[in-house]
Amino acid sequence: MRGKRFAVLVAVMALVSGATSADAIVGGTPARVADTPWVVAITTTDGQLICGGALVAPDKVMTAAHCVTLKGVFGKNQRSPEQLRVVAGRTDLRNKGEGVEAAVAGVWRHPEYAEVTKGDDVAVLTLAQALPYRTIALGEVGADGVVLGWGRTAENTPPAMSLRKVTVPILSDSECLLKEPDYRPGAMLCAGRGGRDACTGDSGGPLVVRGRLAGVVSFGRGCARPDEPGVYTRLANYRQTLGF
Ligand code: ARG
Repeated sequence: MRGKRFAVLVAVMALVSGATSADAIVGGTPARVADTPWVVAITTTDGQLICGGALVAPDKVMTAAHCVTLKGVFGKNQRSPEQLRVVAGRTDLRNKGEGVEAAVAGVWRHPEYAEVTKGDDVAVLTLAQALPYRTIALGEVGADGVVLGWGRTAENTPPAMSLRKVTVPILSDSECLLKEPDYRPGAMLCAGRGGRDACTGDSGGPLVVRGRLAGVVSFGRGCARPDEPGVYTRLANYRQTLGF
């Protein structure tokens, strides 16, 4: 009798704590595109989630270089624009009727991009049409930021497919260097601690600091592991190159 009650209590506690620790982008809460209209999903033509992105002009999407890269027999090739769609105004990607799906007219990938851990993980898509959604300006880092995405809520789950967000602390360059040997001070930033992080499928998506776009989700070792912050492309470093 006591054993059974205890088991019920444990189950209830697991449910309740699960909502705050294991659930999210990782560790976050549901979000709505109505609150952040500039956040977009990048999908294949058949609707599979590739990455996130952010509208920096009505027809320009900031994302990660690795999101537009395919590994093939001849090395790393750029995905062709015809294989990509940008979905805006759709909180739940399964809700096909919601928002706008735009074709991609052009892909610019940082010319120095070689592989994700080496940095320069930034790309800009030019859309075939201007989208009727608010855009976001680039900005600098601060003490913390909000990362948004449709990706996994834990290392081994399928992508959430409905938008989520989480606030992550931004670490100093020296802390990031200690935790991530590939870290490039000035060109990357790292963020997240204690169960709060981006995960697979969130790549290319926005890290927002004081309402401005400070970073793009780039890479991490697993997701939300205790001593492994997520690594982002530090956009302020690329302002000249990007022209934003
Ligand atoms: N590279 C991953 C992607 O393609 C996202 C990595 C972010 N991981 C992290 N733990 N912050 O979606």
